[in-house]
Amino acid sequence: MRVVDLIAKKRDGLNLSEQEIEFFVEGITTRAIPDYQVAALCMAIFFQGMDRKEISNLTLKMAHSGEIVDLSGIQGKKIDKHSTGGVGDKTTLVVTPLVASCGVKVAKMSGRGLGHTGGTIDKLESIPGFNVNLKKEEFIQQVNKIGLSVIAQTNELAPADKYLYSLRDVTATVDSIPLIASSIMSKKIASGADNFVLDVKTGNGAFMATVEEAFELARTLVGIGKTVGKETIAYITDMNQPLGRLVGNSLEVQEAILTLNGEGPEDLVELSVQLGSSMLVIAGCSANESEARKLLESKLRSKKALQKFAEMIEIQGGDRRVVDNLDLLPQAKYKYDVKIAREGYVTEIDTKEIGLSAMKLGAGRGSKDEKIDLAVGLEMRKKIGDFVRADERIAVIYSNSQDVISGVAEKIRGAYKLSSVKPAYHDLIYGKVTSKDLE
Ligand code: URA
Repeated sequence: MRVVDLIAKKRDGLNLSEQEIEFFVEGITTRAIPDYQVAALCMAIFFQGMDRKEISNLTLKMAHSGEIVDLSGIQGKKIDKHSTGGVGDKTTLVVTPLVASCGVKVAKMSGRGLGHTGGTIDKLESIPGFNVNLKKEEFIQQVNKIGLSVIAQTNELAPADKYLYSLRDVTATVDSIPLIASSIMSKKIASGADNFVLDVKTGNGAFMATVEEAFELARTLVGIGKTVGKETIAYITDMNQPLGRLVGNSLEVQEAILTLNGEGPEDLVELSVQLGSSMLVIAGCSANESEARKLLESKLRSKKALQKFAEMIEIQGGDRRVVDNLDLLPQAKYKYDVKIAREGYVTEIDTKEIGLSAMKLGAGRGSKDEKIDLAVGLEMRKKIGDFVRADERIAVIYSNSQDVISGVAEKIRGAYKLSSVKPAYHDLIYGKVTSKDLE
């Protein structure tokens, strides 16, 4: 087999066979195929797409390019939750203890943040002492003991995807639905859970700018799940403004704790309960979503979900007292109110700009080895639909450096669009896709 023939075939709009995809993925994993040929094939896929069979083959071959985590030592169904990434998206921190407090097993491997979006592992590391690098046996033991563990993805997980992603990143081939879907699902499959609930973000802070594209990605993800025998549900949810009010690692842990304590922002609570209800149903723990919602709401009210979070923190070496005393989390030295001279209703927020502003403060990394500052970030005092009076504050900057504050404040002011007309209701959840929708 020759790579050049595969590139030509895809360039001309033909389908690649399972053997050809296997040859390609093996060549990526062993580095036998030079980068320029891998990149050329990615570009051909970008323009010509792939059919369901090709996408499933690519996903499975990438999943099997490294270790497949064996979770069979955990009794019961293991459910995973994944978000395609956004700004202020701390849902995992809320939904995993919430679902685990209902008796569903959550063995979750998460990633770090890159670019304008955050990552669960960085957020968890802002809890003093929290260990995200458990050994496989410890991870399994913990899930059997308390029903919950969240750890960092290892380098052995889908290594072909890791290398492919780094090439896509520099060859303008990230935004391809077959490549995104196979990348996400290869890691999910390799991390060993039985079923998945996915949150596909759409809007000006997400990969998928339009709702239509997000639905297409959701259908592709659910289709892969169906082909490989792992029931998958995908929600399409809004990322035209940050989720909740806090952006930045320890700030997001704070907001997650407040939410588990019954004091969370409405959007974060609603999304967590909705995703959680599908996790309970897919796990067979609740008969339907309305029953599941009631159970989840009762776990929030009784603080059982908060206790589960504290239990996970303690068993993973962290300081569980943070759930009662938020001051134990890293705190930024400077707080600065961002005010705006104009007045009116907030109609739009450039969410990517907000994510980049948090990154500028040090909350996120531009390249994967950059160090981040866990204490810094932003508080969104005004969101879409809110009225802003002239000279009222729209946001608060939490920074450890005075030098960056004025530049970041200017960017935040520029990210807000105001109007004298109140905008119509802003959707949080646009819909969901299940395997039945693909029949
Ligand atoms: N997230 C991933 O894991 N892979 C992509 O290609 C895009 C988002």
